[in-house]
Amino acid sequence: MRALRLENSSLGLHSDYPKPAEAVAQTCVHIQHAALNRRDYWILQGKYPHIQSSTLGSDGCGIVISPSSPYTGQEVILCPSIAWGSNPHIQSKDYTILGMPSNGTFADYCQVPQQLIHPKPPHLSSEQAAALPLAGLTAWRALVSRGNIQPKERVLISGIGGGVSLFAFQLALAHGAEVWVTSSSDHKISKAIQLGAKGGANYTTEKWYRELPAFDIIIDGAGGDGFGSLVRLLGMGGRLVFYGGTQGSWPKLLPQHLFFKQASILGSTMGSPKEFSQLCDFVSNNGIVPVVDSVFSIHSFEKAFAQLNSPQKMGKIILSF
Ligand SMILES: NC(=O)c1ccc[n+]([C@@H]2O[C@H](COP(=O)([O-])OP(=O)(O)OC[C@H]3O[C@@H](n4cnc5c(N)ncnc54)[C@H](OP(=O)(O)O)[C@@H]3O)[C@@H](O)[C@H]2O)c1
Repeated sequence: MRALRLENSSLGLHSDYPKPAEAVAQTCVHIQHAALNRRDYWILQGKYPHIQSSTLGSDGCGIVISPSSPYTGQEVILCPSIAWGSNPHIQSKDYTILGMPSNGTFADYCQVPQQLIHPKPPHLSSEQAAALPLAGLTAWRALVSRGNIQPKERVLISGIGGGVSLFAFQLALAHGAEVWVTSSSDHKISKAIQLGAKGGANYTTEKWYRELPAFDIIIDGAGGDGFGSLVRLLGMGGRLVFYGGTQGSWPKLLPQHLFFKQASILGSTMGSPKEFSQLCDFVSNNGIVPVVDSVFSIHSFEKAFAQLNSPQKMGKIILSF
């Protein structure tokens, strides 16, 4: 089978990699579409812990081929959280993410523990469904489990062009929140307003935060110098949930900007299989359609990775098999 593998620090498409052998309690899926995540890029840059040779890819949609599965012949998506464990609040010490160290979805066939298999939300195409798992799960936990979003709350999503941000945006709207965005691009802010945002600010302009009101929830994956402005934008009882640090360290924070407001800064990572089920049900019940930026053949994987860093990117990048 074809497999896009990291070997000796370089990514290459292998045409004759062995198909996974049938194994107890595992389900094999014939992948039709997979999606890129920033994680794949960090791994290629050597900026991820415990890097080892693997087939990359955390997101996939395909057809179950294992004869023992209750989903044989059906279109499914894969929960990327492996061995979360029994505590809903934190992952176990054995926790890993699909696609390094275990072989992931950038291959014709991917085998995962059977409990990670979920029916494809019926209103989604295979491409759209492949976009959902990792970014959707991260957004769900950040906004719902950690942020405890309530209807009519005012929510700010930073960097709306990002994969996780767009899901957080769609999920917040579907929860009945008033949603605002930031972006480096006025065009992306306009697009978000077309999709239902109340307004937005361009974080590359000076004093951009002055254009925005106070927020009940702020969702951020960027960190860096702009994080201090996000803290100042928290309203009374506000929750700033962060899941990433693309821009690196936070600036010095003033405690007075947090304690008087009874405000919280909360870290969040991925999510449990139970949260993945909740996400899938919510997406189906609310007709949420993931935003797909572009689709590339697996043979054009280098172009797909280049697109991940394009300033024009808005939404998920899909690989087609
Ligand atoms: N902890 C977890 O479980 C988890 C899960 C997924 C991702 N992550 C991490 O979270 C981060 C985002 O992931 P992703 O998959 O959404 O990545 P992505 O799709 O590559 O997001 C890129 C976006 O980040 C935004 N951005 C860049 N600099 C910014 C800044 N200074 N302020 C605000 N936004 C900024 C940009 O938005 P605009 O184009 O709108 O300017 C850009 O489009 C990555 O570092 C990733 O590793 C963590």
